[in-house]
Amino acid sequence: MIPISKPYIGEAEKQAVLQVLESGMLVQGPRTGELEEKFTAVCDTKYAIATSSGTAALHVALLAHGIGEGDEVITTPFTFIASVNSIIFTGARPIFVDIEEDTFNINPHLIEAAITPKTKALMPVHIYGNPCNMDVILDIAKRHNLIVIEDAAQAIGANYKGNRVGSFGSGCFSLYATKNVMSGEGGMITTSDESFVQRCRMIRNHGMQRRYYHDVLGHNFRMTDLHAAIGLAQMARLEEFTAKRRANAEFFNSNIHSVLTPTVRFGFGHVWHQYTIRVSGRERDAAVKQLNEAGIGTGIFYPVPANRQTYLLTMGLGGNSMPVAERLATEVISLPVHPLLTKADLDKIVTEVNRL
Ligand SMILES: Cc1ncc(COP(=O)(O)O)c(C=O)c1O
Repeated sequence: MIPISKPYIGEAEKQAVLQVLESGMLVQGPRTGELEEKFTAVCDTKYAIATSSGTAALHVALLAHGIGEGDEVITTPFTFIASVNSIIFTGARPIFVDIEEDTFNINPHLIEAAITPKTKALMPVHIYGNPCNMDVILDIAKRHNLIVIEDAAQAIGANYKGNRVGSFGSGCFSLYATKNVMSGEGGMITTSDESFVQRCRMIRNHGMQRRYYHDVLGHNFRMTDLHAAIGLAQMARLEEFTAKRRANAEFFNSNIHSVLTPTVRFGFGHVWHQYTIRVSGRERDAAVKQLNEAGIGTGIFYPVPANRQTYLLTMGLGGNSMPVAERLATEVISLPVHPLLTKADLDKIVTEVNRL
C-alpha cells in the first residue's frame, strides 16, 4: 500500500534525539530555542513560541489575545476539529462561515455578514496547505478592529502574494507526525508583537516569568528538547520537502483526467499538505474502495464539517447550514503526495485514479 502520509525519519533526526538524551536536558531548552529561531526565519516574523502541539498553539494564542467568555471567533467548518475546540476551551463561541468551492478555504466574502458586536477574532485556516485569501480577510479585520489568528497547522512554508503564512496575524503551526515538517508532536506560534509574545510565553508555562511566581493563569504547553531536536532536523529540509510536494502535485494535475483536481490561484503558494480530488458524493465510497484495493492509501479530510459534529449540536454551537462545506465533505478524497513517493508510486497513483 502506498501510504497517505509517511514521516521522513533519517540519520539526522535519530542523531539529534540521541544528542539530547545524552545531554540529560530533556525539557524545553536550547533545541527549543533554536527551533523557534528557525520558525522566525521561515515565517518572516520577529518571534516564535514553541508549544506541545498545534492545538496548544491555537489555545495559547487565543488566551494571549484575551479571548474568552462572551466573545465570538469566526472560522471555517471545513477544518480539523482542533481549530474549533481551541476556541470553545477559552469559553468563546465559534461562528462558522461557509467555504469557497475551489480553495476549500473560508469564503471571505461571507465573513462580514457573520460579524456581531461580540466578534473578537477571525481564525482563517489554510486548509491542505493552501493559503486563505488574506487581502480580503485583513481588510475586514482592519475595518472591524478584529484580531487575526491564522491556523497554519497544515501550511508551513506556504506564501500568499510573496508573504509567508503565519506573518499576517498570529500564526499557529502543528508539527504533528504527518505534517510537512514534524517533531512527533509539537506546535509553534509566530508573531512580531512583543507584548503578545510575552503573554504567550507565560501562558505556555503556568503563568511564570520568574520560577514559582505565577502572574497569570497558565498551562503546561511546553515543547521538550527531544521534540525540538527532531523538528530542527526536519526544518533543515523544509525547502526540499516542499519542492517535492509541489512537483508531485504538478504531476498529478497534469496527468489526472478522470476526476476534479485541485486548482491553485495566482499568487497562492500552496505547499500541498494534502492533494485532494473530488468525486460525486454517491461515488466516493466505491472510489475509495477501488483505490485502496489497488494499493493506494487515501484520506477523507474531513467527512463531517464542524457545524454538523454531534458534540457541537449538543452544545448548541452548530446546526446552521453550510452548503458548500457540507457538499465538499461528501466529495473529497486525498491522495498520497508526500516527499517519499517514488516515480513508480506517482505513475501508479495516476493510472489508478484515471481508472475511476
Ligand atoms: C487545521 C489544523 N488545525 C489544528 C491542528 C492541531 O494540531 P495538533 O495535532 O498538532 O494539535 C491540526 C493538526 O492536525 C490541523 O490540521
